[in-house]
Amino acid sequence: MPTIVITGCDTGLGVEFARQYAAEGHRVLATCLNPDTAHDTRAIKGNVEVMKLDMTDHGDIAALGRHLAGAPVDILVSNAGIGRPHPPFGQTDYDNWRRILETNLIGPMKLAETLVDNIAAGELKIMAFVSSRMGSIALNNSGGSYAYRSSKAGLNMMVKGLAVDLAPRQISVIALHPGWAATEPGGRVPVAESVSGMRGVIHRAGRHHTGIFQTYSDQPLPW
Ligand SMILES: NC(=O)c1ccc[n+]([C@@H]2O[C@H](COP(=O)([O-])OP(=O)(O)OC[C@H]3O[C@@H](n4cnc5c(N)ncnc54)[C@H](OP(=O)(O)O)[C@@H]3O)[C@@H](O)[C@H]2O)c1
Repeated sequence: MPTIVITGCDTGLGVEFARQYAAEGHRVLATCLNPDTAHDTRAIKGNVEVMKLDMTDHGDIAALGRHLAGAPVDILVSNAGIGRPHPPFGQTDYDNWRRILETNLIGPMKLAETLVDNIAAGELKIMAFVSSRMGSIALNNSGGSYAYRSSKAGLNMMVKGLAVDLAPRQISVIALHPGWAATEPGGRVPVAESVSGMRGVIHRAGRHHTGIFQTYSDQPLPW
């Protein structure tokens, strides 16, 4: 069965990704910021290994690379991310902005560079990055959320670049929008539906579609 590496499995969509892939019998490496408190992920039945990974710590990412050395990885789901807070213009928290960029943008690039040989050796060869509609420049008609929006817009640009650079190795690189998922206060899309939708997009993309930005319901989004 395919091997899936998922980041940000402490809570929310990451836990559900791990649960759904494990339920299908896949081998899941679920990385958590703090495995000791990731009770939901540790309780998942099946072939699930939990490992510590702080996306802002390149030493952790290198350790993941060493752990997987020589092992094929079919799908990378780069899911870990920070959303809140969204201070308005005039109240920017620059330290927090840097932390958001490290987590949502720079860490995922380091992860892609670290695991590229594992993905190239896998059967499915997919890197999926959980982005956000809020990272769409074309759809930004409401302003605000500078840190989060810029981190996801940067992630989208990274996806386009990786799609080009990794095409010769037959690796598909895609950006996903989970919908306004119920992990967020007021979120309307049930978590299981968001994740099963994104998994469907990942599997339909296969090796044939790369450099795409799709919602969980398989609608294309403008960059
Ligand atoms: N929910 C939505 O409506 C929505 C919409 C668009 C995009 N997204 C994106 O979907 C992804 C998952 O979000 P979610 O809704 O499931 O929210 P979530 O429950 O907050 O999940 C994000 C996960 O990332 C972890 N994380 C935070 N900083 C990290 C770091 N430095 N290294 C590793 N992991 C870290 C969090 O751990 P802790 O819990 O310990 O902080 C948490 O488990 C994120 O990339 C988010 O931006 C969500």
